[in-house]
Amino acid sequence: MLKITKKKIAAKSNLDNYEKAYKNYSLEEAKKEISYFPGGKLNIAYNSITRNALNENTKNKTALIWESEAGEIKEFTFSQMENLSNKVANVLKKHKVKKGDRVFIILPRIPETYYSFIGIMKTGAIAGTMFAAFQEDGIFERLKKSEAKFVITNTELAERIKKNRQKLKELKYIFLTDIGISGGEDKLSLPEEMESASASFQTVPMEPDDAATMMFTSSTSYTPISGVVMPHQAVISQHLTAKYVLDFKEDDIYWCTADPGWITGTVYSIIANWSNAVTTVIYEGRFDAGKWMKIMEKYKVSVWYTAPTAIRMLIASGVDGRKYNLDNLRHMCSVGEVLQPDSIRWIKENLKVDVCDTYWQTETGSMIVANFPGEKKKIGSIGRPVPGVIVKIIDDQGKEVPVKTEGNIAIKPDVPSLMKTVWKNKKMYDSYFKHGWYVTGDRGYMDEDGYIWFLGRKDDIIKTSGERVGPAEVESALIEHPAVIDAGVIGKPDKLRGEIIKAFVVLDQKFNPSDKLIEELQQYVKKHLAGHAYPREVEFINKIPKNKSGKIVRRILKAKDLGLPEGDISTLEDD
Ligand code: PRX
Repeated sequence: MLKITKKKIAAKSNLDNYEKAYKNYSLEEAKKEISYFPGGKLNIAYNSITRNALNENTKNKTALIWESEAGEIKEFTFSQMENLSNKVANVLKKHKVKKGDRVFIILPRIPETYYSFIGIMKTGAIAGTMFAAFQEDGIFERLKKSEAKFVITNTELAERIKKNRQKLKELKYIFLTDIGISGGEDKLSLPEEMESASASFQTVPMEPDDAATMMFTSSTSYTPISGVVMPHQAVISQHLTAKYVLDFKEDDIYWCTADPGWITGTVYSIIANWSNAVTTVIYEGRFDAGKWMKIMEKYKVSVWYTAPTAIRMLIASGVDGRKYNLDNLRHMCSVGEVLQPDSIRWIKENLKVDVCDTYWQTETGSMIVANFPGEKKKIGSIGRPVPGVIVKIIDDQGKEVPVKTEGNIAIKPDVPSLMKTVWKNKKMYDSYFKHGWYVTGDRGYMDEDGYIWFLGRKDDIIKTSGERVGPAEVESALIEHPAVIDAGVIGKPDKLRGEIIKAFVVLDQKFNPSDKLIEELQQYVKKHLAGHAYPREVEFINKIPKNKSGKIVRRILKAKDLGLPEGDISTLEDD
């Protein structure tokens, strides 16, 4: 066995002392970390890239080290990212992008994804991303809901827009990253357009509250998916949380494994890492335990941000982290789902670092609770509120509950990164705010030292492999299949994936239950909605339990799944 002694012991954490930092936090001080335009205006893109490209110390520093699945490597300095994003901004401007227009990127983890995201924000338009795993219906719903004006994608993924293209009235152009010549009608070649575009662009100064990004996420009330809109001032919280929790130092090499289709992959793999001028590694390929270890070794990754499912997959793969030289790895964080104690132990033994859990949501726009490097951790706790965020556990009437009492995890809504709207859905947006609190929808408790312990969701949102999936969207996809007359979907606990999607299906009388039909339904959801959102388990039943207003009562399905009595559904009250 190879014995590794850490050459690079973590220097003193950026968060000098938690108690002091929390007590002394002031928004005015925090704002000093950020560059503003006259009149208090700002732009995330300027903070992430431009200011580093203008700075003598960082302009030639590597911003992005990219490795493709096939092993091709490309590097970009902050200046190069500035020029490329300026070109994208000029292309959009040429095609009459306006402040507030929605521009969506549907691409894998390739350099175009990263500089396009910055370029869009520079113009004042709203940058949105989507997992490349989304299929026709998943893409259509999101483009339709957001009334997107432009899409940046590639030829293969653009095929998935074709079927519904005529129904997307607001969509003007589809920019393709992989063709050198324009594809006719509404398709333009991004490289060709960029070729003739200027590399200078005046970033549009935005009001702090103006929309910067839109991420679709799953919800269960009012609407299956919501376009969560994050303001430009979010960069204040994002920059600070990255500095304190990811604990960035000048010469760090940072790798965040999150896909930019998920908010972690935009906030902490584009915005906050670069606003801290940190060299960032992006690996295009899928999960592969050995490859991941090699990436860490090869690029001397010093800060790593990943998710519990990825850690569980590393453990399950049998990979031995001690066989790789990970001397440079000094800090690691996790996000998105419960981080189990055995994962923490495995990381400690194999990668020789402590893993810090972090907790937040698409809607909060940045970490709100975290374990801080250098501070005492309590295994099983998600940590303490980040400086500047007041987190409390409240009851349904908005009253704080005593320590060690279960309640709703809630924050005071004065956090700069908190969403500003749910796109065209005020009812949904308003539903998060109760009695002066922003209520996360998660349950937990706080102990006497202010550490928070996560207990689970209050609603039916499913977390599968760290990805948030709304049951309603999967149910709708299933019901589209001719054999299905009704469906109810739940998250079923799973050792590897946290939860898997399980569907209860009521068949049309003309169809008979069979393994072949299960397979067909799974393929159907994969093909129409998304590769990651299909039910790994399907069970045929006679009736889906509903309350008096016709809403599916998924807790009964959950009870059924655990083999508990279903109960009398006729007595169910409206939720
Ligand atoms: O239920 C919580 C869970 O993930 C939800 C947020 O999901 P999403 O918006 O996709 O994630 C954005 C970036 C994290 C939360 O409401 N969650 C998040 N972090 C943790 C977690 N559950 C347990 N432990 C965590 N550290």
